[in-house]
Amino acid sequence: MQVLESLLNDFTKELGPINKIADLLNLKAKYIGKQGPLADVMKNLKDATPEEKRTIGAKANELKQSIEALFSKKMQELELADINASLEKDKVDISLTDSVMEKGLQAAGYHPVTIIQQEIEDIFISMGFEVLDGPHIEDDYHNFEALNIPATHPARDMQDTFWFADKKHLLRTHTSTIQVRGMKERKPPFRFVGPGKVFRCERTDASHEMVFHQLEGMMVGENVSVGNLIYFMKTLLTEIFKKEVEVRLRPGFFPFVEPGFELDIKCLICGGKGCSVCKQVGWVELLPCGMVHPNVLKAGGIDPEKYNGFAFGLGLDRLVMMRYGIDDIRHLHGADLRFNSQFKSF
Ligand code: PHE
Repeated sequence: MQVLESLLNDFTKELGPINKIADLLNLKAKYIGKQGPLADVMKNLKDATPEEKRTIGAKANELKQSIEALFSKKMQELELADINASLEKDKVDISLTDSVMEKGLQAAGYHPVTIIQQEIEDIFISMGFEVLDGPHIEDDYHNFEALNIPATHPARDMQDTFWFADKKHLLRTHTSTIQVRGMKERKPPFRFVGPGKVFRCERTDASHEMVFHQLEGMMVGENVSVGNLIYFMKTLLTEIFKKEVEVRLRPGFFPFVEPGFELDIKCLICGGKGCSVCKQVGWVELLPCGMVHPNVLKAGGIDPEKYNGFAFGLGLDRLVMMRYGIDDIRHLHGADLRFNSQFKSF
């Protein structure tokens, strides 16, 4: 009994200064382990009287429980301290600090095409349009057939196509493919835009790339008119250029629209007087558009007797070049950090 009485005291005293989990485990083993004093007492118990057995056994149990409780409490404290210490030590700074900006060429930011694309998406979302996506690898049907360009149509030659070896699949030559998929999935009235990369097998120069970007737009409903088309295009361009722009329509041919137009804006550089940017014409050709051809509506599962609509295809790279004064389209995909890092969007 004497041994037992002093054990708890001794244990508490030794427990106080311990600050390592390993030391704590050793201490526990020392007191209530197989070689410890408690085990000794239990071993000697076989020689004791039944009365002694009962009191000493109960005391020993009580003591063991007390030591275990103290041990667990201390263990929790030490584990928590360990976790806090490692959190402090392994702290990761996930904020974008000035030190990142200061690295100059390494600084992060959106590509200028992405910046413009997101801006235009926002403008259209505010006008009630959805934003759709579509695959880069397409089939003949979605890129040509459903857009009123049958196999023998000469318009196929207007777009130099990257064909796959199976002669059925291709890299989409325009975002008009998104029209086809978008129409099939919804019922009029609807309006959506579809931005993305397009691919053409072209010889590259300062104004031609094999990969460039378009943003397709489509609005279908009852009594949609050329007036609606002009309104949306004017609003879009005014938002992009942050000033009132004048637009005009000229006839333009695309098999999937009828009538088809080229929409020009009055030159923002010279105000229409004529300069090198507008090649002395006073107007800059900006986006092809038109009223959706009945055959295209039909291919999209829409009754052309009841509904009509407009569509347009905006070239994003040209806009980026005009906005930032970039004189060669090849910079856009050149992956030259000296170019890219000039567009720090955050
Ligand atoms: N898909 C046409 C092109 O890439 C552009 C366009 C889209 C024209 C929609 C009219 C209507 O050349």
